[in-house]
Amino acid sequence: MTGRVLVAYGTTNGSTAQIAEAVAHVLCKEGLTAEARPAPSVASTETYDAVVVGGALYAGRWHKDARRFVRRHRRALAARPLWFFSSGPLDASASERNIPPVPGVRRAMDRLGVREHITFGGSLEEGARGRVAQMILRNGKGGDFRDLPAIEAWAERLAEEMTVA
Ligand SMILES: Cc1cc2nc3c(=O)[nH]c(=O)nc-3n(C[C@H](O)[C@H](O)[C@H](O)COP(=O)(O)O)c2cc1C
Repeated sequence: MTGRVLVAYGTTNGSTAQIAEAVAHVLCKEGLTAEARPAPSVASTETYDAVVVGGALYAGRWHKDARRFVRRHRRALAARPLWFFSSGPLDASASERNIPPVPGVRRAMDRLGVREHITFGGSLEEGARGRVAQMILRNGKGGDFRDLPAIEAWAERLAEEMTVA
């Protein structure tokens, strides 16, 4: 496959957008034509040959934009090579072990034939929206736990699979 790849994401505070941008950047470096876009801004996925969907985790669920995207585009997505990622844990756990998808994401994976899912560490920093976010920060539990080498390594593997396909 040498075609166009969409990396659609659902984010509240922007850190998942940056992961999606990093994934798209690696895919482009590997010779694919990839773009990262906020999930609600994607009207159609028909022009893409493969899709990656990423969602931040909030209260044990994927970000609503990622959930809606998958629901709205389910037919087109099921007909394309498809990968998911989640971003969330505010500790090193995602770098240390494989964290399985939350149940809702697992069900969507089964329905759509998603090839693979990975959980990346998340980030929560000053200025994050919401009362709970502020509370987490006040309790000193925030920080940036995104693992760029792991994100890039995953994207490189995706590029390989897409190129073979
Ligand atoms: C209210 C709230 C709920 C959260 N719930 C979860 C959760 O259930 N699981 C998880 O791994 N991370 C959880 N997190 C951490 C976020 O997923 C993490 O900050 C993520 O990187 C946010 O992505 P965003 O910057 O793209 O919005 C939560 C954070 C907040 C503020």
